[in-house]
Amino acid sequence: MNEKRSSFTGKLGFILAAAGSAVGLGNIWRFPYLAAKYGGGIFLLVYLILALTFGFALMAAEIALGRKTGLSVVGAFKALDKRFAWLGYLAALVPMIILPYYSVIGGWVTKYLAVYLTGDAHAAAGDEYFGGFISQTGEPLVWFFIFMALTALVVVLGVDKGVEKVSKIMMPVLVVLALVIAVYSLFLPGALEGVKYYLIPDFSNFSATTVLAAMGQLFYSMSLAMGIMITYGSYMKKDVDLEQSVHHIEIFDTGIAFMAGLMVIPSVFAFSGGDEAALGKGPGLMFITLPKVFDSMKGGAIIGALFFLLVLFAALTSSISLMETVVSFFQDKFGWGRKFTSIVVFIFCLLMGIPSSLGNGVWADIRIMGFQFLDFFDFISNSVMMPVVAFLTCMFVGYIVKPKTFIDEISLTGKFKSEKLFVVVIKYVAPVCIVLILASSILDVLGIMKI
Ligand code: PHE
Repeated sequence: MNEKRSSFTGKLGFILAAAGSAVGLGNIWRFPYLAAKYGGGIFLLVYLILALTFGFALMAAEIALGRKTGLSVVGAFKALDKRFAWLGYLAALVPMIILPYYSVIGGWVTKYLAVYLTGDAHAAAGDEYFGGFISQTGEPLVWFFIFMALTALVVVLGVDKGVEKVSKIMMPVLVVLALVIAVYSLFLPGALEGVKYYLIPDFSNFSATTVLAAMGQLFYSMSLAMGIMITYGSYMKKDVDLEQSVHHIEIFDTGIAFMAGLMVIPSVFAFSGGDEAALGKGPGLMFITLPKVFDSMKGGAIIGALFFLLVLFAALTSSISLMETVVSFFQDKFGWGRKFTSIVVFIFCLLMGIPSSLGNGVWADIRIMGFQFLDFFDFISNSVMMPVVAFLTCMFVGYIVKPKTFIDEISLTGKFKSEKLFVVVIKYVAPVCIVLILASSILDVLGIMKI
């Protein structure tokens, strides 16, 4: 079965493979715009606290679940308790919702790489450029298809190892480049205000929505609550220190997100002249702000091209892991061949992604609960389904199977240092917080109760 599932995760170092899945558009594109929108420093603070508690405990639980059972998501839940296979299905549904719209954004990155390679860097810095691009009908669709096809090609050809090797070099380069861009943008006139906004928490910006957004982002960024880490865990060797691996992935993932924020948010202040409305730009923030930074830099066109190339790779390693999960799910479920399954998933994603792309243009007036398509899929997966899956996983680990099974698995290589934290978070803190936050924010979205 492992053979069939391609060797992407199997033969490579666990941390690298997991980090390849975790680090992606979530860190570079999604984190900065959420931090900008939800209060800057307070969002960062809440995110960090959640990462060290929820993120740690859930990731450890998921990886332990996978390693203990040696199975991917549905099988893993079922193996520990027959009555819970449905939870595996629910988790497996999440990547199917994310992959199509993730690929729409992946398409935007591909487009920007092409723009920088063809010498249009200056035009891309124009105020109307991004909006003009995504509101078209044909072009964003073409780039979305290209990104989706790249992902599918890697999955079908099973050349993930090649991609992984390249990204092993690309990732450190991305870190260095992000650092260079961040430092550069800190020195832009007016940027200091942005640094303050990003780093100093302002408690008056705090709300349940801040916590929900940070929590959804945490799950998304660390590829949690959707079965992916369970599958990765199933490939992890018994002699690897699980606790330490979780810490490594967390530090890496959070570090990149933090730097992406430092790259984007101060620049927003620098280029908007301190106009706070610019912070609420949403999904377009990175695409609007960074081209301006590159345009103001010497050699910015080259830096821009390099940047979008690196982001494209980070996005691809994530989308490949998303597609792998979906494909292997159907393979296992229906016994279909790998090629056939990949084609089915590819077509499904193309169809599902079209509304997310057109929702920025011709279909902008079609709203679901007030959201455009892309934002709706993002909301349903990140703010509803993932918290629900996370809550149920906590129940499963904490009360159905009991933490001991997991603690034993994590302690295989030595003492589980954060055992107490693990138990308290899984049994009490996480479930209570998730329910409270989920309830209040859903009421908020439905307009029933303003918080
Ligand atoms: N974690 C990835 C990111 O930050 C997104 C992703 C989610 C990848 C789920 C795989 C699974 O971009």
